[in-house]
Amino acid sequence: MAKAESYTSTAKWLHWGMALLWIGAWFIGILATHWRDEFNTHHELTFLHKAMASTLLFLIVVRIAWRITHPAPALPAAMSPLMKRGAFFGHFMLYAIALIGLPLSGWYWSSVADKPILVAGLFQLPPMVDPDQSLYGLAKSIHTYVAWLCGALVGGHVIVALKHHFVEKDEVLKGMLPGRNS
Ligand code: HEM
Ligand code: HEM
Repeated sequence: MAKAESYTSTAKWLHWGMALLWIGAWFIGILATHWRDEFNTHHELTFLHKAMASTLLFLIVVRIAWRITHPAPALPAAMSPLMKRGAFFGHFMLYAIALIGLPLSGWYWSSVADKPILVAGLFQLPPMVDPDQSLYGLAKSIHTYVAWLCGALVGGHVIVALKHHFVEKDEVLKGMLPGRNS
């Protein structure tokens, strides 16, 4: 029997590792801001949020380089051309907004606020721009709105992945799960 097509194991490690970091950073960001008095009195969650999320800026470079040199498996033949275009657009938005734009907006916010970012708690990210308190409100709004938009985007991505598996019963989710490599 022909071997089923799948993402490479490196692509899977990058996808699931970054997904874990991303989802963890998202919930920690929410807890840090909306439950500040309960869980974030000494900015410990803000520190953790920035330490986790900033690693995505480095991992995304590796991921894009790997993706360019290792194409994704073909989508199921049963999917209409419109659905295939939708999947391409959805993945493009995840890369551009959730994995690149959102970390950049956090970096921008911390830079205008003159606050440090310790990547993985190990070394400091240099400021992206000079500190400027007059831009604080704008930078905060951009990061907050984009974070919520991305929450919806990732939520939609997970629902679509589960629908492929449980409703359409095709190979899309299996191609990203461990155990089978192309
Ligand atoms: C270099 C990367 C990033 C930096 C420096 C950063 C920085 C921050 C800071 C300073 C806060 C406010 C925390 C507080 O007030 O205590 C925040 C909030 C938040 N961040 Fe980030 N962030 C980054 C990336 C991300 C990423 C990748 C995500 C998504 C996974 C994200 C999601 C959020 C969310 C959901 C909030 C709470 C928004 C709200 O007020 O409702 N951030 N971020
Ligand atoms: C439980 C959570 C998740 C599940 C079940 C899931 C599932 C999947 C599956 C099945 C694929 C392959 C789709 C295909 O072959 O067409 C995929 C691809 C992708 N996922 Fe996720 N995912 C999750 C979380 C995330 C998160 C948090 C992000 C980023 C913020 C993300 C970003 C991506 C991207 C960018 C691709 C496209 C990969 C490529 O072809 O280069 N995923 N995901």
